[in-house]
Amino acid sequence: MKDYIQIDEWKIIEEGFDPHHNKISESIFSLGNGRMGQRANFEEAYSGDTLQGNYIAGVYYPDKTRVGWWKNGYPEYFAKVLNAANWIGIDIAIDGEQLDLAKCEVTGFRRELNMKDGYLKRNFTAKTAKGKEVEVEAVRFCSMADDESGAIKYTLTPLNFSGTVTVTPFIDGDVVNKDSNYDEKFWDQVKKETWAACGYIQMRTKKTGFEVATGMEFSIFQNGQQIPTNAQPVEKEKYVAVKNELRVTQGQSTTIIKYAANLSSQNHNAADLANELKNTLSRISGKGFDTMLAEQASAWAEKWKHNDIIIEGDASAQQAIRFNIFQLNQTYTGEDDRLNIGPKGFTGEKYGGSTYWDTEAYCVPFYLSTADQKVTRNLLLYRYKQLGKAIDNAKLLGFDNGAALYPMVTMDGAECHNEWEITFEEIHRNGAIAYAIFNYVRYTADEAYLADYGLEVLIAIARFWSQRVNWSDDKQQYVMLGVTGPNEYENNVNNNWYTSKLATWCMQYTMDVAAKVKAAEPEKYTTLVNSINFKEAEETARFRDIIEKMYLPYDDKLQVFLQQDGYLDKEQILVKDLPATERPINQKWSWDRILRSCYIKQADVLQGIYFFEDQYDMETIRRNFDFYEPRTVHESSLSPCVHSILAAKLGDEARAYEFYLRTARLDLDDYNNDTEDGCHITSMAGTWMAVVEGFGGMRVRDGKLSFQPFLPGKWQSFSFNIGFRGTFIKVIVSRDTVKVNHLSGPDINLLIRECECYLKAGSATVVKTTTVTVEAPEPPADLDIA
Ligand code: BGC
Repeated sequence: MKDYIQIDEWKIIEEGFDPHHNKISESIFSLGNGRMGQRANFEEAYSGDTLQGNYIAGVYYPDKTRVGWWKNGYPEYFAKVLNAANWIGIDIAIDGEQLDLAKCEVTGFRRELNMKDGYLKRNFTAKTAKGKEVEVEAVRFCSMADDESGAIKYTLTPLNFSGTVTVTPFIDGDVVNKDSNYDEKFWDQVKKETWAACGYIQMRTKKTGFEVATGMEFSIFQNGQQIPTNAQPVEKEKYVAVKNELRVTQGQSTTIIKYAANLSSQNHNAADLANELKNTLSRISGKGFDTMLAEQASAWAEKWKHNDIIIEGDASAQQAIRFNIFQLNQTYTGEDDRLNIGPKGFTGEKYGGSTYWDTEAYCVPFYLSTADQKVTRNLLLYRYKQLGKAIDNAKLLGFDNGAALYPMVTMDGAECHNEWEITFEEIHRNGAIAYAIFNYVRYTADEAYLADYGLEVLIAIARFWSQRVNWSDDKQQYVMLGVTGPNEYENNVNNNWYTSKLATWCMQYTMDVAAKVKAAEPEKYTTLVNSINFKEAEETARFRDIIEKMYLPYDDKLQVFLQQDGYLDKEQILVKDLPATERPINQKWSWDRILRSCYIKQADVLQGIYFFEDQYDMETIRRNFDFYEPRTVHESSLSPCVHSILAAKLGDEARAYEFYLRTARLDLDDYNNDTEDGCHITSMAGTWMAVVEGFGGMRVRDGKLSFQPFLPGKWQSFSFNIGFRGTFIKVIVSRDTVKVNHLSGPDINLLIRECECYLKAGSATVVKTTTVTVEAPEPPADLDIA
């Protein structure tokens, strides 16, 4: 754990330059706009330890899989998001000596991520080996308003000399991924050009053939005046640069403004890329840096209006939750249904930028409440569009009749994961995809989605489950053999409760939706049934039979759901009795030892209870929580949020807060010593869930929002903004009251601590948490809103 990040409610601040922290900070201070993302690498040269990263959403490379023992059904490749051409580079030479912070004495270093307005600022003073001192301020952002663009304002002031400074803004396409199986270079140059103070390079990915044109236009100012550049193009393979020799005077600043854009053939014709890039560059440079920055601030203000969580009385928690919300918004903006959310977003290469079940299980609730419903709809459509590949994937594994197995890891719908226990066994991901459809519809009431897309996906998923189970003569029940649950510290187990429960739920939900669509949209239903050859009577009879006779392991003595057959045969030593020196077990123990132990990597049975809490009474939830929590090591960052929400539900406020703390500052404090690889973006959504669903106790029931809030002891109050079916509200939880302000949209009916509250536009309601007094307008007699 580190604690070098300064606390500030709206900013992430690093003071002082410590090269050991550099890669961590490069992740934390990353910028993105949903379309492109950039690690906080330096503009000028840096020969120290760094992980360069400019990622273009959806542009990937199928890296050949390296495995020792090939198994039928393994995917051939692991798609990974690519480090694309460096657009931020500005090489600086001071009287011929390259500015490189790894070779300078650095003072006054400060990096500041302004989350309110969406930009990164870096200041430092550097003394070169030859004793030249310069002061630098660099401000940059990835524009939310022009999401293929970014801009940099780089100001350099000589402190103890007058002389020549050579400024060379460049675009470097000769880049690599650190994580490449065969140390391959993934890009070929298509073309490049430099002219005046501009240049671009167009690169094509090997195999996938994506083309990306990355270009720049810059201007240089001294004494507030733009100066003519004596630009000299630099010729090098996969590289364009324009060199400018400038006379500089001690104490006088030189400012370089660099506009840049990354345009990809995903969104433009490859043949038009160069022209469109030139148009984009002249459009953004025409706006100017200050206008772009002002647009950036208003785009972020709009986001914060819907997203912000305010915590009073704990600046560190305030900073952390805003950081999480900020990063989620930088990662996915929801305009494009071909894009998704990698567990590290745009902040690093780990997990290859690919899509995991994290999206459906953890990110969907965040986007549902904080963004327009089309954002989540696009996440669902992403899977809908990949249904064909999920069906192919299931075929490859021996399933038929249009059964679909969605991949554990994917970029374009094809499976990328190549460890048998995950690829073939961690099939619960299929259920999360169905659950996200349920969650979306319950939240938005967009039932049309079911007829148009959802039902088709659900039937394919239900078909998979109905084939994946088998009848056990011995048990006279259906069983599900050879699976891995969310707890990856158990492989190839029989009858993982969570997976089997989810499978039966999927089949039931599919039948419910089918009946609903059949009644509401009979024509669409018939068309679908015919196109996928759904033999309703026969297939639903099998679903029903499985639901009725599914074996869901349960221990009568403990009265808990059993994680899987045989779980109780394991030596039951609780986590509290494990010496701290043995943890994390995934770093200290052999895999064999982990598999034989009772330790649970992440919520498994409890994940199921979280999903289906309405089916269980408090005592059941408590018994399962009390049994599984002490055996859980939380070695996935996705785990503590689920435990936090359940602890809150059980009224254990202290523990709810304790679990929340485990991920709230996970990256800011580099808890796991792995932030240098990138930030844990999907678990950030879990942290949001812990606040809103845990402390706020928010749920959607019968088409209504309900809240069961409590205030963590250390906080004076907290509030969060929520959008629900066109209405925006602010929920403010303080020591004695819960107040809900109606911000905009139609009237809304809510439940606050079981009290019905009817909230008219512009009004507020206050519920006293102790006496439960409702001060709110009476609902009209003909009330008919959800
Ligand atoms: C977790 C998975 C998760 C993946 C990506 C793994 O450590 O066990 O559940 O999908 O990380 O976040």
